[in-house]
Amino acid sequence: MKDVYILGIETSCDETSVSIVKNGSEEIATTVLTQMDTHAKYGGVVPEIASRMHTENITMVLEDALKKANMKVSDVDAIAVTYAPGLLGSLLVGVEFAKVLSFVYNKPLIATHHIAGHIYANNLVKKLEFPLLALVVSGGHTELVLMEDDYKFKVLGTTKDDAIGESFDKVARVLDLPYPGGPNVEKYAALGEPTYNLPKPMNNDELNFSFSGLKSAVINLRHNEEQRGNEIRKYDLARSFQDVAFDQVIRKTRLAIERYDIKRVIVAGGVSASKNLRELMQELCQEMNVDLSIPPMRYCTDNATMIACAAYPQFIRGDFSDLSLRAKSQEYFFKDSN
Ligand code: KG4
Ligand code: ZN
Repeated sequence: MKDVYILGIETSCDETSVSIVKNGSEEIATTVLTQMDTHAKYGGVVPEIASRMHTENITMVLEDALKKANMKVSDVDAIAVTYAPGLLGSLLVGVEFAKVLSFVYNKPLIATHHIAGHIYANNLVKKLEFPLLALVVSGGHTELVLMEDDYKFKVLGTTKDDAIGESFDKVARVLDLPYPGGPNVEKYAALGEPTYNLPKPMNNDELNFSFSGLKSAVINLRHNEEQRGNEIRKYDLARSFQDVAFDQVIRKTRLAIERYDIKRVIVAGGVSASKNLRELMQELCQEMNVDLSIPPMRYCTDNATMIACAAYPQFIRGDFSDLSLRAKSQEYFFKDSN
């Protein structure tokens, strides 16, 4: 079969990115422009600023990626774009830009879900082999998913309340840590000891998760210590929280591996950038003799490479969109499952 080059576009949050990927797994060139420094001044992503910056930068990011690839838009076979979920104003910039490229260059348009991107980033390491267990840990998702084939999902467990990344971001606020929350909690945790006693959530044989009780325990602990006039030991509290959060992830993943006789595991989503979680997953999979794949760090944070990878199976099955495509701030990805 002829090689397929897909141009991916990602603007769902605060990274403007364009990438060209060959056959869903070979990165040709990628440009990522992060707005992190700008939003850090405000303590979090400011949607209005994010969309304005995407608008200002997207053409330049496209040109840079094409230059690195030594290609023109006319050389690619399709245009793929993240259409959901994310900040509406940010998504809109990418979606409208993709539509223009698709129309002007007469290329098929592919609407790709952001979480599919995080999952298919693993193709950059080695081709997904099915069946596999996907652990999806991000700002909006916490799921254990059985994948029988491309885009065929069965959700084995999900969070009953907050997503894990969300809980890291909230705990970062409680500890007065700057944006971005998750990586800063990890930095503090690396300097602390797990000396605070926090309740272990979902200490049962369910495959579901819960993070809001743990988050509340951290809030209450800080509040109570303050009322007693005690200083909070931030490094230790970050470490205690992180240990309990990841203990839950590892326990549930272990249960799923045992229950479904899993041989291959992949990790996807922004929280997989955690060095600590990567190590814990490596230990678990080694112990259980399971093949593990985690994308390299630079593909764990938001990028268009993963979007062009996830769009490839869509291209193969002819899953194209027309110019009526709309950005959606919320759309549950695993909706075909169970
Ligand atoms: O996958 P992602 O971009 O979110 C969604 O697409 O929903 O991941 C962002 C999430 C944030 O909640 C961030 O705090 C978390 O991933 N995160 C981390 C780390 N790096 C990013 N959480 C814990 N430790 C990290 N090192
Ligand atoms: Zn993401």
